[in-house]
Amino acid sequence: MNAERRATPNIQEHLSTAVALLDEQGRLGYMNPAAEILFATSARQAAGQSLEQLAPGADGLGEALRQALETGAAYTERERRLLINGQLMTVDCTITPLAGGHALLELSQLDRHLRISREYQLIAQNKATRELIRGLAHEIKNPLGGLRGAAQLLERELPEAGLREYTQVIIHEADRLQTLVDGLLGPHQPPQQGMVNIHEVLERVRQLVRAEAPPEVAIVRDYDPSIPPFRGAADQLIQAVLNVVRNGLEAVGEQGRIVLRTRTQRQFTIDQTTHKLVARIDIIDSGPGIPAPLQDQIFYPMVTTRAQGSGLGLSISQTLVNQHGGLIECASEPGHTVFTLWLPLEDYP
Ligand SMILES: Nc1ncnc2c1ncn2[C@@H]1O[C@H](COP(=O)(O)OP(=O)(O)OP(=O)(O)O)[C@@H](O)[C@H]1O
Ligand SMILES: [Mg+2]
Repeated sequence: MNAERRATPNIQEHLSTAVALLDEQGRLGYMNPAAEILFATSARQAAGQSLEQLAPGADGLGEALRQALETGAAYTERERRLLINGQLMTVDCTITPLAGGHALLELSQLDRHLRISREYQLIAQNKATRELIRGLAHEIKNPLGGLRGAAQLLERELPEAGLREYTQVIIHEADRLQTLVDGLLGPHQPPQQGMVNIHEVLERVRQLVRAEAPPEVAIVRDYDPSIPPFRGAADQLIQAVLNVVRNGLEAVGEQGRIVLRTRTQRQFTIDQTTHKLVARIDIIDSGPGIPAPLQDQIFYPMVTTRAQGSGLGLSISQTLVNQHGGLIECASEPGHTVFTLWLPLEDYP
């Protein structure tokens, strides 16, 4: 029995159903990762809170819990609508009273598929916009080379050194445009396929950003070492993760915390394909968060709120992850912003 237990550790950590344990006062104790996602909080933050505190929109659930505890009978409700963190969702809900006045809460989200198809639309739109911008960027790129070359030739012929100031302006501005256009063109080569260890990718990113980050920004690792290697392009994934982590760094400023967390998830749908096993990489920052109206737009190219930003970082990351059959999603509230990269581990059922 014990050996069996040891052989199957932490099954609840891998469930797609949200599972939470409540004490006799209805306060939260344990939460599995699916519950953390559903309530958009961490188990640590939620510990000791009541359901009403955690999800004010989940009214009636607390009442159902009290009834289940009083009567000792399990409570089940199908297709219940819940408003959690401003997000309306449909769940199947079960409350099971346990010994010692505790109760087990299970919520399985039904509209994950609906949400995915919305994500799918977002990706399709993103692709269309990218194609348009890519076409435009190409058109700019060629004359730009000519312009820069001509300015260089002109510079050599100039009779007075003082006039170089003007050709330098042309060359400098052409270079700036070139950088922008290269960014807009984005990654074009098909990914160099190899076997990727996601933790090597994350460690490389951590090294890079550690050097840039202010000393009072903690970069915390929380890895699931069981994630198998998968087919992909390490360099491109480093770029994809780096863009997201750099945004996190910019968001937290001089002080804060960035967590790099990895987990696996079974039976997960991305872009209308259900995968047996996917890697989930959460990049969590303690910054001020992304205003709700902006959240739908940040993956589009040239959407930025930063004076020095080009607004290309996330769009490039999304493209790179899409090329790996994956998806980046974002959930944000003040103090807790999570970018989740989903990557299929297809070859390893
Ligand atoms: N972790 C985050 N916290 C708060 N806002 C964020 C976060 N990540 C992204 N954003 C918002 O999304 C916008 C777009 O991000 P994106 O990385 O695409 O562009 P950028 O960072 O502005 O410019 P760059 O091309 O240099 O990366 C940002 O300007 C910022 O407003
Ligand atoms: Mg950025």
